[in-house]
Amino acid sequence: LSQLFSPGINNLARLFVLALVIGAVAALIVVSFVADTSYSTGVNIEVQQPLQFSHKHHVQGLGLDCRFCHFTAERSSSAGFPDTQTCMGCHATVWSQAEILKSVRASWAHNQSLEWIRVHNLPDHVYFDHSVHVAKGISCTTCHGDVEHMTSIVQKHDFRMKDCVKCHEQSDPQLKLRNCTICHR
Ligand code: HEC
Ligand code: HEC
Ligand code: HEC
Ligand code: HEC
Ligand code: HEC
Repeated sequence: LSQLFSPGINNLARLFVLALVIGAVAALIVVSFVADTSYSTGVNIEVQQPLQFSHKHHVQGLGLDCRFCHFTAERSSSAGFPDTQTCMGCHATVWSQAEILKSVRASWAHNQSLEWIRVHNLPDHVYFDHSVHVAKGISCTTCHGDVEHMTSIVQKHDFRMKDCVKCHEQSDPQLKLRNCTICHR
């Protein structure tokens, strides 16, 4: 090439190829991002909560069981969020004047629950039930990742239909769990 083109043109050609490659990669990133976040807040994206709550501190640090705060996971479809009373069981005395816990005390005083922002959110046409999965011995971490070490919760799996169905296929040879109506009622 160096015999045919001057060095200047050669650089221009390189630049052109480089621009094409960058453009293609950028387009791929945009497409996959849009496809992945169409229904959920997305994998690994941090959500701004009304109050920064650290699972790492309360679970790993203090040794609390998940069910201490999410006790409905065992007996109902929803795992739910703890009410303010659960927090005040400790924080009426522990760090009872701390600035960071002001909104918890206000919630308690005005009998108004804290508005936690959902991190996981399946579309309305999908039915999910915690208790059936927990009863089968599937651990919280299988679906939610290493919550124990998270200072703020991020979604670890994006729960596409194929992800739910993949585990159902492995667990159930009769195909019952692949029936559309169990998840779309
Ligand atoms: C002391 C109470 C407490 C304990 C113990 C606790 N959690 Fe939580 N959890 C919360 C609160 C408060 C929120 C809402 C704020 C947030 O998302 O960080 C929450 C949110 C979550 C969420 C995000 C739900 C969503 O989609 O918005 C998951 C998943 C979760 N917890 C799983 C667990 C698991 C697994 C454990 C045990 C390893 C656990 N939690 C232990 C209080 C607790
Ligand atoms: C079993 C007791 C207990 C419960 C229940 C509890 N906490 Fe705590 N929390 C603590 C202790 C102990 C600390 C801090 C200890 C330290 O750092 O010395 C703390 C610290 C905090 C902090 C300070 C920031 C940090 O380091 O995490 C926040 C915020 C907090 N808790 C929020 C909450 C909320 C919201 C709830 C209810 C969903 C809750 N806690 C339930 C014991 C508890
Ligand atoms: C088979 C997978 C799976 C397992 C196991 C599982 N979860 Fe979930 N969890 C989900 C899905 C999916 C959602 C979103 C549900 C929705 O949007 O309707 C969710 C939502 C949540 C929420 C948000 C509030 C709610 O009820 O929707 C919390 C908190 C939570 N899970 C905690 C837990 C805890 C604690 C455990 C273990 C006791 C657990 N999960 C076990 C899949 C799972
Ligand atoms: C890690 C494996 C696993 C994953 C992931 C999983 N499931 Fe399941 N699911 C099971 C098993 C095992 C059962 C069977 C429980 C039984 O038969 O008692 C089940 C049962 C169900 C049922 C039947 C409940 C009933 O009333 O009989 C529904 C609905 C369901 N799953 C929805 C979902 C959805 C939606 C997702 C994805 C967000 C999902 N599952 C992800 C393992 C899984
Ligand atoms: C184990 C649970 C489960 C089963 C079984 C299941 N689905 Fe789904 N389905 C989901 C979840 C979760 C979503 C939402 C996430 C997504 O779009 O991938 C979904 C989404 C969909 C959507 C919407 C897609 C979109 O782009 O918005 C359609 C249509 C659908 N399912 C049809 C079916 C049909 C038809 C069957 C039976 C062959 C079926 N599903 C079986 C869990 C399930």
